[in-house]
Parts: sequence; C-alpha cells; structure tokens
Amino acid sequence: MIDHNKIVDILRNIKDPRSGTDIIKARMVEDLQVQGNAVSFSILLPGNDQHLKSQLNFACIEEIQKVYAEADVNIHLKLKSDLSGEINSVLPQVKNVIAVGSGKGGVGKSTVSVNLALSLRELGARVGILDADVYGPSIPTMLGLKGQRPKIEMLYGKHKIVPLEAFGMPVMSIGFIVEEDQAIVLRGPRLGGIIRQFLQDCLWPDLDYLIIDLPPGTGDVQLTLVQTIPVTGVVMVTTPQQLAVIDAVKAMNMFLLPNVNVPILGVVENMAWFTPAELPDHKYLLFGQGGGKSLAQKPMPFFSAKFHWYRQLWKAVIPENPAFQWMVMRAGLIS
Ligand SMILES: Nc1ncnc2c1ncn2[C@@H]1O[C@H](COP(=O)(O)OP(=O)(O)OP(=O)(O)O)[C@@H](O)[C@H]1O
Ligand SMILES: [Mg+2]
Repeated sequence: MIDHNKIVDILRNIKDPRSGTDIIKARMVEDLQVQGNAVSFSILLPGNDQHLKSQLNFACIEEIQKVYAEADVNIHLKLKSDLSGEINSVLPQVKNVIAVGSGKGGVGKSTVSVNLALSLRELGARVGILDADVYGPSIPTMLGLKGQRPKIEMLYGKHKIVPLEAFGMPVMSIGFIVEEDQAIVLRGPRLGGIIRQFLQDCLWPDLDYLIIDLPPGTGDVQLTLVQTIPVTGVVMVTTPQQLAVIDAVKAMNMFLLPNVNVPILGVVENMAWFTPAELPDHKYLLFGQGGGKSLAQKPMPFFSAKFHWYRQLWKAVIPENPAFQWMVMRAGLIS
C-alpha cells in the first residue's frame, strides 16, 4: 500500500533547481494523487529547460521507486510562467528586489544597504543581500564575512553558488570570490556576466526582499541588473552637498528612463549632521543641508530619510526611526 504522506516525504529529497530548497517547501508539487500503485502529481517549473525537466522527472521517479519499487509514477511538468504570467522568471522565489544606488562613491550606499536589510529582517521579513559593487565590495567586511568563500553545489548537472550567511540573511559578494585588488580590473561584459551569475547561478532561498548594493553612478552593473531581473525599486543615497546631489540626479535619471523604468522608492540623505557625545544638543551640518530634500522633490514626490552621523553604525538606522519605517512601508506596499 503506497502511503500519500510518505510520497510527500520522499519528494522532500528532490531539490528546486533555483533555490536549492526541496520541491515540497518550494511549493512546486501540485495535485498529488495515489491510487493503488499509481502515483501522479504535477511539478511547477520555473523555466523551459529540457535537460532540467528530464533530470527532475527521473530524480522523482528514482526516489519514489527506491521506497516503492512497484510504484507506477506519472509526472506532469508544468511551466510556472505559463500559469501565472510571472515576470520574474530569473528569481521567482524573490518577491522584491531593492537596489541601493548613488551618484558618488563613499556616500553610504553599503551602510544603508546593510541597515535596510537588517531593519527589514528585524521586522520579520526574509531578506538577502547582494553586494553588486564589483569595484569595491564592502559588504563582506561590514557583515564580518571577509576572507570566507561560498560553497559550490552541483544541482542537476550545473554548478551553483551557495550564498554565505550573516545575521540570518543569505549574502553574496564578489569579495567572496576574487581578492580585493583584482575586482578593480574587471570591465564591461565580464562585470555583466558576474552580476548575471550572482542572480541566476546562486541558490537564493525564498525571500521577501533582496537588497542590492550597487556601485556608484550608472554603468554596466546597473544596466545588466535592470535587464536581467525586474527591480522593484531603487533607494538613492546622497550626502547633503550640492555636488553629491547633482551626481545623484544623473544616476536617478538612468532608472527613470522609459526603457529602464524602475521606480525610485526614496532618497536617503546620509551624514546629514554630526552630534558630538559631549554636546548632545548640537547639530553640526558638516556638509550643508537640504541636498536630500531637493533630490526628493525632483521628478516626483518621494520621501526623504535623514541618517545622522553616528558613531555606532549598527544603530544608525533602527526600525523605530519613523523616516525609516516609511521606507519599509513603501517597499512593503509594492509586494
Ligand atoms: N551615517 C554615518 N555615520 C558615520 N559613518 C558613516 C555613515 N554612513 C557611512 N559612514 C562611513 O562612511 C564610509 C563610506 O560609507 P559606505 O561604504 O557605506 O559608502 P558607499 O557609498 O557604499 O561607498 P563606496 O562608493 O566606496 O561603495 C564608511 O566607512 C562608513 O562606515
Ligand atoms: Mg559601498
């Protein structure tokens, strides 16, 4: 007698080719029926890869027949994109992709990315971080993962990268793969290839948010990103000076081009002021003021959040910060 629940358990040994989680957890199995020796079910596939189809098919039959040699297994392979008209076929397991960009370097993109990710995580969301700053990856240092290497797993005949983990979040960075001084010599198509690999060949689990720390400005990385996956929105980071704002406007305009068309979720004016510990009531506006606001008012009514200059960066953005909650809510509304 073939047991329905046992079949479900057996299918937990089969992995989803995208995320590496099992196909039951990934909700890829539907309409499971057991009648006598006949076992039938459908598998929802993310893409129309013939090789993958047959590998999955055989893997399921093999696992079931290891336990029930007499089972007559009938599998219907359905294309997920046919069913739901889903646009995110590269990362179907990720609900929102949020890029953090800026015009200039050193304004705090990586800091904002990490704080955004940690804050969303603290609110209970499943969050991953992709450090797409191929020129100067700082996420490994910020998250204490420097010097570590991701594992490579073989899945249905293909090499897959397993992201590292920090604070309960999967993290991927070019800093895990090449030495710091090597990253700088990579150019154009090679960079695009790496970004695509990080999106397509990484085993990202089910996520509510994938936060992407971009390199400064507009370049191959940004273009490849928007051409490869649907980006939910961009958070722009600037410091208050006019010069930083001018560059931020250029970067922002790229995302607003008709053929790119990625919404700007908000503007973060970082390093807005400095308050020394011995003068807690003083605010020193080291870089002037108003940059973030003027940027936020440019093409559409954005919100703007101010981070002040903080000694302990981990506390720079806390979920209780109302400006930040706003940003989270905006992000949440799009899901
Ligand atoms: N609000 C802040 N208070 C104090 N220090 C900050 C703040 N924001 C950023 N920093 C510090 O400023 C430096 C630059 O920040 P960060 O690396 O986040 O910028 P970035 O825009 O990602 O830079 P890059 O363009 O080099 O990638 C870092 O040393 C960071 O710790
Ligand atoms: Mg950075």
